[in-house]
Amino acid sequence: MRVCVVGSGGREHALAHVLGRSCDVVVTPGNPGIPGSIPAPATEIDADLYVIGPEAPLVDGMADELRAAGRLVFGPGADGAQLEGSKAWMKELLVAAGVPTAGHGSFTELEPALRFLDDMGDLFVIKTDGLAAGKGVLVTEDRAEADDAVRAYLSGEAFGDAGRRVVIEEGLTGPELSVLAVCDGHRAVPLAPAQDFKRIGEGDVGPNTGGMGAYSPVPVAGADVVQEVMDQAVLPTLGELRRQGIDYRGVLYAGLMLTPQGLRVLEYNVRFGDPEAQVVLPRLWSDLADLLAGAAAGSLEDDPVFDDDAAVTVVCASEGYPTSPRTGDLIAGIEAANAVEGVTVFCAGVASADEGRLGAISPDQNSQGLVTAGGRVLNVTGQGPDLATARERAYAGVTHIDWPGRYVRFDIAAAAVESVSQRESA
Ligand code: AMP
Ligand code: GLY
Repeated sequence: MRVCVVGSGGREHALAHVLGRSCDVVVTPGNPGIPGSIPAPATEIDADLYVIGPEAPLVDGMADELRAAGRLVFGPGADGAQLEGSKAWMKELLVAAGVPTAGHGSFTELEPALRFLDDMGDLFVIKTDGLAAGKGVLVTEDRAEADDAVRAYLSGEAFGDAGRRVVIEEGLTGPELSVLAVCDGHRAVPLAPAQDFKRIGEGDVGPNTGGMGAYSPVPVAGADVVQEVMDQAVLPTLGELRRQGIDYRGVLYAGLMLTPQGLRVLEYNVRFGDPEAQVVLPRLWSDLADLLAGAAAGSLEDDPVFDDDAAVTVVCASEGYPTSPRTGDLIAGIEAANAVEGVTVFCAGVASADEGRLGAISPDQNSQGLVTAGGRVLNVTGQGPDLATARERAYAGVTHIDWPGRYVRFDIAAAAVESVSQRESA
């Protein structure tokens, strides 16, 4: 099978890497660190299956366009992608489907939004309605900061049109969890759960990012929790989508909080998580292409099977991320990191110092000539028999990666490893 992966980040590299176990893979536009990258429009690439990685092309209807041309596509149409494209729409759908979620209001005018904040507890959650690359959510206990954010969002100053409608939510607390389900329009099967680290700073401080690391499996999320997520969230959501005439074929990614009152859906994404994909997909034992092709054709068959191992990914980011990442620095150490047992480096925000080499990069990912070109630059994934080993391997890989100002969180999966070791010694 020939598969075309659309996108250019670490998630797409992980997709290509795992699909490459059984298929020919091309990635468009890809990046110079992803073997098989071809900077041609997806419509001009001949493939048996198209897998669309990022949310923006899904929201813009790329899946519809490819399907209209008779192609087999994994990824929802623009109708289903509204789940991520508009938080206000998503919240309405959740309420209609009876899915537990934070209480909320959505606003385009300042005064009613500020009045709504008066009735919130002491944790304020402000979200852009539209896409903001994971950065459009403010969670604060500071009322003045919440007011300022609402003003800056609604005026367009903070996030352009994405913020001209805001969703204000009840503040919740509890461990977070990502459960990604593969859907074929009718049926949904869960992938192994993952947890990501959204804040820039160690100890979960500072602004939200696209994600600074992730791990899988998640000790707090056993099979019972995953089943609850399927029963209370994913399946009712898929049913409501179908009721509204939406044939949803792709990933339904539930961002959840496990609150003392039970699980709550914080958000839906309509694609694989980034960097969750970089820990979930490498653990897949069954064939990824069969799974995605089955879902794309509306006929999911077997449930995916995962190895009984663990994976941890650590994001190496540019100095200044997420506000103003510095770019153009030469990257060193990808080969040395890849040589560490159990380690795979996925390339995200990289460019070739010599643009002419795009598409001509050898599969050994020669990092010579790769420069930083974005906020999240590389994902160093470690795999091992348990979380502690996977984590050690990921950080052993990270020690080889270098460029001026390289930024890494050193606490990825630390608490999970600690909780496992406490449980084992109890
Ligand atoms: P989202 O993009 O909606 O998942 O939000 C990004 C992050 O903001 C989440 O991972 C949570 O850490 C936090 N967050 C979102 N909604 C809430 C909420 N209602 N209460 C507390 N924290 C939240
Ligand atoms: N890691 C969060 C996301 O993919 O949205």
